[in-house]
Amino acid sequence: MTRPEPQGGLGDYLAAQVDKPQLRFITCGSVDDGKSTLIGRLLYEAKRLFDDQLLALETDSRRYGTQGERMDFALLVDGLQAEREQGITIDVAYRFFDTDRRKFIVADTPGHEQYTRNMATGASTAELALILVDARKGILPQTRRHSRIVAMMGIGQVVLAVNKMDLVGYDRERFEAITAEYRAFAEGLGLPDIRAIPLSALEGDNVTTPSRAMPWYDGPTLLGHLEAVEPARAADQPPFRMPVQWVNRAHADFRGFCGRIAAGTVRPGQTVRVLPSGVTTTVLAITGFDGDRAEARSGDSVTLLLADAVDVSRGDVIVAADQPPEVADQLEARLLWMSEHPLVAGRPFRLKLHCQEVTASVTAIKYREDVTSGARLAGKSVAMNEIAVVTLSLDRPVVFEPYAASRTLGGFILIDKFSNETAGAGMVEFALRRAANIHWQAMEVDKAARAALKGQTPKCLWFTGLSGAGKSTIANLVEKRLLAEGRHTYLLDGDNVRHGLNRDLGFTEADRVENIRRVAEVAKLMVDAGLIVLVAFISPFRSERRLARALFEPGEFVEVFIDTPLAECERRDVKGLYAKARRGELKNFTGIDSAYEPPEAPEIHLRTAKDSADRCAQRVLRAIG
Ligand code: ADX
Repeated sequence: MTRPEPQGGLGDYLAAQVDKPQLRFITCGSVDDGKSTLIGRLLYEAKRLFDDQLLALETDSRRYGTQGERMDFALLVDGLQAEREQGITIDVAYRFFDTDRRKFIVADTPGHEQYTRNMATGASTAELALILVDARKGILPQTRRHSRIVAMMGIGQVVLAVNKMDLVGYDRERFEAITAEYRAFAEGLGLPDIRAIPLSALEGDNVTTPSRAMPWYDGPTLLGHLEAVEPARAADQPPFRMPVQWVNRAHADFRGFCGRIAAGTVRPGQTVRVLPSGVTTTVLAITGFDGDRAEARSGDSVTLLLADAVDVSRGDVIVAADQPPEVADQLEARLLWMSEHPLVAGRPFRLKLHCQEVTASVTAIKYREDVTSGARLAGKSVAMNEIAVVTLSLDRPVVFEPYAASRTLGGFILIDKFSNETAGAGMVEFALRRAANIHWQAMEVDKAARAALKGQTPKCLWFTGLSGAGKSTIANLVEKRLLAEGRHTYLLDGDNVRHGLNRDLGFTEADRVENIRRVAEVAKLMVDAGLIVLVAFISPFRSERRLARALFEPGEFVEVFIDTPLAECERRDVKGLYAKARRGELKNFTGIDSAYEPPEAPEIHLRTAKDSADRCAQRVLRAIG
């Protein structure tokens, strides 16, 4: 078998390829539903397989196939799948095929529950979702789960492919019952555009040729529909938005702002606003790859020249002046967690929203969402592949739109600050106004005045180390000496604070993060009061110590690492807790079944195995002067 020769010359053929519209779609379903057979048949019947692939398919079908003398299309796709499984980091397989009318990009993801994040990745750029159900089984929990993710990722169009119609005698009533049940469910999800097609991937009914076995169906075949469907171009309607990716300073008096138009249209002479600064100006000219343009629209990559010398940098957004999007630093968002390390509130991440990058932390986990039923679940942490609605606090305002209005301006990712992994994908729901209304009370009496009265420089001495390392002992000695010198101090000790302010907290990771957040805030207030504050907490995680440090002015925060080997702490076991932990009677014990991350660059590093507590205290006093 050979592929059809293109009509006309090679040039015509290539030109037709470039101009052909493209459709990106995702397939949802499992191998049992016939997904591999369906994709295999689409690729085969679109005649875009290479000869060697076809030959292998024919041979393999005869040798391993489950379909007797016929070709087993599933072998084709599963073969590609096996290849893909060699590279364990690739979670989504993209397949390309085309017909005379259109190019297709198919995102194919594993269907199992634990792969929610992969499916969301595939769905994030898709314009259409192909949801496969087995006519014998009807709508299953996994169908609901896939549809929920499809709706969440903002895919407007759904094809409900009711497969294996041959196994239910091509029964119209069965098809209509499944379709009705699905439509009722999808309505609740806000999935607007559903096309149901009865088919048999195995027999080839309604895949690319109309089925003779189902004369009662007068809709399009699957391929016919995929070729004809108009991807919802909602992005053409809303007002103009262009995130600036790059500022082109080709020469002294040329400054062009380059980016891809996320929505709307723009023409020379139009008034635009630059956000977040809010400055307005006029578009002087638009340049595309093919020269000056009288108009540019959603999806075009262009360079804008502006009439005034306004300050625009990467990450800013140029928008229609009279209909600007929102700018906020407190957001409510839906998050899909992708990291193996569960999300807990309080931890800082890098948040990337189109070209903007800020530091963000989750201030509250409002609820988790059951992906299958949509039920709201309580929870203090969010595990990999779970979805949650959270509130976020950013260190700087970002320009955004709700995800439902714009995938470009409403979608973001959270990146782990240490490992640089993508920890979560988020969809902005709306800005929180509450926080914006709490203003700082400007005080007449400030930190400097309070400190001057006490005749000292306020500081936060942060002692970190394992339980039993000697934090409290050394901090105590330091405080006694300071007091003797007439300094004003306060010692915040983990054990004591956990009896009062933090008595609602235990030792899970989430609770420890909150424990440190609170004590760091208290220490900050005390430093503001002009005190020298000593904090003696295990504070096992680097990110929270970093968060604490960030609350203070340069030089104010002094990290003191009380470095005592675990074996020595365990030998001392002053409170008998290590023995208990070893017996399994105490869970999440630091050093035993909960991590301690030693400081990488503490201001003071004390090794208690080498120096006495007194000597250690002396070193702290000397260091702070
Ligand atoms: S932290 O990890 O959240 O910083 P913190 O310093 O407040 O811990 O409290 C540690 C003290 O709590 C220990 O000195 C010990 O006496 C006690 N404790 C009880 N259970 C645990 C546990 N699972 N892990 C560590 N310390 C524990």
